Order: sequence, then structure tokens, then C-alpha cells
Amino acid sequence: FHDPDFSATLMAWQKQHGRHTLPWQNTRDAYLIWLSEIMLQQTQVSAVIGYYQRFLTRFPDLASLAAAPVEDVMAQWSGLGYYTRARNLHKCAQRVVAEYGGVFPNDPVLLADLPGIGRSTAAAIAAFSSGRRAAIMDGNVKRVLARVYGVDTYPGERKTEEMMWRRAEALLPEQGIESYTQGLMDMGATLCTRSKPDCARCPMQPRCVAYNTGRTAELPVRKPK
Ligand code: ADE
Repeated sequence: FHDPDFSATLMAWQKQHGRHTLPWQNTRDAYLIWLSEIMLQQTQVSAVIGYYQRFLTRFPDLASLAAAPVEDVMAQWSGLGYYTRARNLHKCAQRVVAEYGGVFPNDPVLLADLPGIGRSTAAAIAAFSSGRRAAIMDGNVKRVLARVYGVDTYPGERKTEEMMWRRAEALLPEQGIESYTQGLMDMGATLCTRSKPDCARCPMQPRCVAYNTGRTAELPVRKPK
């Protein structure tokens, strides 16, 4: 499943229309990137920004977070919700200090073994902090792939999800994984939204199966009853 046009189109769009000034962009510091990706797992960008900046004022680096009492971490997280993320964040900081001397590994497989970091978060951290070619897969990415390629089976089902991971890996560009990964996130969040996608502005429009067959509202297919 090779389609170099997909990444080329996405990266050109990202350069012109994607987001470039979010507080966790323009750095390769794995601590700053990891923290943002954990906060963004279940919370929208607009809600994360303030928490992210306050959290970093209190815990400016991995060592300060690992050394803090868990209660202080919970207090800083208070209001963001999904508090398991905060407990895992603290555990993860302590493990990176104990097992890796305070330096996050680059390998997405090692990252995914740490608390709170799944396969997709590991890929995002590895791509943004060290340029590793690794595929992300969240609800936004599933929606973009389902529409562009006309995937008409339920993405929550194991076989479809595995197929989407394989495609996502085959679509990765040889160069520029950072702008590619950010572009995929930005397209899913700003153009290829669940309801009322902005197809008129979408760079994928000429090649999008869903658009060209009038099925943007039907794809991705909803959970079968
Ligand atoms: N959601 C998850 N990761 C993100 C990122 N790096 N930028 C914007 N939204 C995101």
C-alpha cells in the first residue's frame, strides 16, 4: 500500500495551513513533547494550553516531576480530568529517571512500555522529539484514512484497525515525519471533522473517496449495533 502523493499533499498543506505555534511545537525536548501528548490524549488543544504552561512552571523538567510528591502532581492536574493520566505521568517520570538516567528513549517500542504511553502516543513522541518514522493512530487519523481511502468497515473492529495501522505505516514519508505527523493531526482537527468537514479547503478533495462518492457523512462507519 504505497501512496507517496498522500504524504506530499499533506506536508505541503501543513506548511501553509497547519498549526506551527502551539506551546509544545518547535522543540525536540522529549519531556515537553511527552507532557503535551499525555494532556492531549483526552483533552482538546484549547483546554490543554493553560494547564500545560502552569504545569511547566511548577515542574520545569523531568527530574522535578519525578522527585515531587504525587499529591502535588494531582493538584497541578486538577481540572483536566482522566486522573489516571496524572498518576501514570508521575510513574513514568520516575521510571525514565530510574531506567534511562532521566533521558527518554527514542525507540517507540521502548516508549510504549512506559506507563500511560500507548502505541500512538509513543509514535508521536518519537516522531516529534527524534524524527523517528512511526505511525500515529487516533480517532482523527482513523477518520481521515477512512474517508480518503473509502474504508467502509468499522474502525473499532480489530481487523479494520490492524489494516489501518498497516496503511498508516506504509504512508509515512521518508523525510519530514514531524510536519507529516502534525499535518495529520491538524487536518483531522480542523478540516476533516466528524460533522461538517470543510472539504472545500481540503487538499485531499480530488483524491478523497468519501468526497467523490458523496459519503463524507457515512464514513467512518459507526459502531454496528
Ligand atoms: N493532539 C495530539 N497531539 C497533538 C499535537 N502535537 N498537536 C495538536 N494536537 C494534538
